[in-house]
Amino acid sequence: MQFFVDTADVSEIEALADTGMLDGVTTNPSLIMKAGRPMLEVIAEIAKLVDGPVSAEVTATEKDAMIAEGRKLAAIAPNIAVKLPLTWDGLKACRALTGDGHMVNVTLCFSAAQALLAAKAGATFISPFVGRLDDLGLDGMKLIEDIRAIYDNDDDLQTEILAASIRTVNHVQAAAIAGADVATIPPGILLKLIEHPLTNKGLETFLADWKTTGQSIL
Ligand code: G3P
Repeated sequence: MQFFVDTADVSEIEALADTGMLDGVTTNPSLIMKAGRPMLEVIAEIAKLVDGPVSAEVTATEKDAMIAEGRKLAAIAPNIAVKLPLTWDGLKACRALTGDGHMVNVTLCFSAAQALLAAKAGATFISPFVGRLDDLGLDGMKLIEDIRAIYDNDDDLQTEILAASIRTVNHVQAAAIAGADVATIPPGILLKLIEHPLTNKGLETFLADWKTTGQSIL
């Protein structure tokens, strides 16, 4: 499963890129607002920081305006994936932009039926929002499983499942088990993936025992 980071904060992306674990970045209008910088400027900077796909979301809601915005965003860098909402206009814009050869990430997906429509529209990625379904007491991870089953039933559907709205380490693990192709992970959760108390305790014991030998490797 590929790891994208879900942020528009350049300093967070720079720090995580150093881990070698970053396969891409996703942003959305709320994350751009949080970054507090001009969108086109920050997207251009992010696209230079990572080789993988960088999702930049249109804010128009009508097909032709979505296509115009999408083309402008895609022109920023070759690794831009245009993010489009799961509406009929968004799916029509998806078909036009993928037809132009651009990557498209169809977002705000909350049902398997929506994911099927996005794949039929030629989406590069589909973003089911796991956490927001869980917030309502629904089973967000079941949606990933259902989309995986539907896509695997039809070789014509080549869309990659990009698990989004990730809230916990368990969400990352469960998304990988459910067969998501990508998870877009908040920076804090990505850094938590490495943590386990038994690892820290075990290393402390190894080093304490090694110290008693008086030996050194170099
Ligand atoms: O990429 C989508 C993601 O940013 C949404 O996450 O936490 O706002 O549901 P959240």
